[in-house]
Formats: sequence, C-alpha cells, structure tokens
Amino acid sequence: MSRKRVGVLISGGGSNLQALIDAAAAPDYPAEIVLVISNRADAFGLERAAKAGIATRIIDHKRFPDRESFDRETDSALRDAACEIVCLAGFMRILTPAFVEAWQGRMLNIHPSLLPSFKGLHVQRQALEAGVKIAGCTVHLVTPDLDDGPILEQAAVPVLDGDDESSLSARILEQEHRIYPRALAALAAGRIRLEGRRALTS
Ligand code: GAR
Repeated sequence: MSRKRVGVLISGGGSNLQALIDAAAAPDYPAEIVLVISNRADAFGLERAAKAGIATRIIDHKRFPDRESFDRETDSALRDAACEIVCLAGFMRILTPAFVEAWQGRMLNIHPSLLPSFKGLHVQRQALEAGVKIAGCTVHLVTPDLDDGPILEQAAVPVLDGDDESSLSARILEQEHRIYPRALAALAAGRIRLEGRRALTS
C-alpha cells in the first residue's frame, strides 16, 4: 500500500497533530506525516513532531511582508517534501485564495464547532454565549471562504450548565482527536466523493 504524504500546519499545542501521528503509526493507515510546519517557534507541537522523528520547519509569518509571500514559502516547503495532502491542525493563520486553490480537495481543517455555526475565533465562547445545548467539532475540506467547505466528519458533545470555555473546549478536543484521523484516512484512501457541497464517504 502506498501511503499518502501529509504535511501538517500548526500554531500551538499540537494535540490534533499527535492524534494524527498516533493514527499513522498503524501499518494499515493510508497516510504518513512527513512534515510539520509551525508559524510559531514556541509551538509545543514541534516537540511532538521531533519526538516522532518527523521533519519540522518554522516559518514565522512575522518575517514576511504579506500573506502572499508567507504562503509561497509554506507552499514550497510542502512541495519540497513531496506532500500530497495538507492538514491544518490548530493553524491560526488565514490562507490566501492562491494557496487554498493550489491545495483544494487535498487540504483539511479541524474546527471546534458544528459548522456552519460559529465560524472564526473563540468559537467555544460563541457557543456558550449563544446558549446552545449541543456543541462539537468539524473536519472539512478547505475552500477559499473561512471555515467553509465540504464536511467530512462532525462530532457532537453536550454543553453542560457548569461549563466554561475551558471545560467545553476540552470536551470538544477529545472528539477532535477521534474524528480527524478518520477524516484524513478517508481522504488519503480516496474514499471521498463530492456531490455539490456534500462530501460522501464510501
Ligand atoms: C483545536 O481545538 C482546533 O480545532 C482549533 O485550535 C485547537 C488546536 O489545538 N482550531 C481552530 O480554532 C482553527 N480556527 P491543538 O493545537 O492541541 O491541536
């Protein structure tokens, strides 16, 4: 079986990266993580990658005059490593349309809400403020519109009366770690078919 080569973009703790690394340790997993790129030098996810023997790159967005040049550098790092799929895993930068179009259909994002509800930042807080009783997370294909794109996987969690942003985020994160490896496996194995906005998994 040929495993798809995956580059993961992170900005922080990298617990979703860890879930992907752990899943890819299984011999029959259809993808391997070959490169981890962080826009922050202090991202703990870089240590997780190094521990797993995965190549890392720090591409500090502050060193670039604009989003286009930052994205071009990221794109060439991914291509140099012969990546075939990109996973955004807690990557907190908005990508340019040119970058997204170059990877469209081959780039996944994990988002800590049940899309299309609550896009953007601090979405667990948005969910609490809206008073919803069910929250969750979504893995979707990335399209030029923010937190949009065909949905591959979602998982729901209850919002409890005693929740604050941190307890709700932790409950959602547990589900993120479950669905992200499933979604990547489906994409890498070529099991996703698009019908309009719907991603169907065989
Ligand atoms: C996760 O909850 C992820 O869904 C979220 O950041 C966290 C990263 O955690 N991503 C976004 O909000 C993207 N807009 P991690 O670094 O431990 O994987």
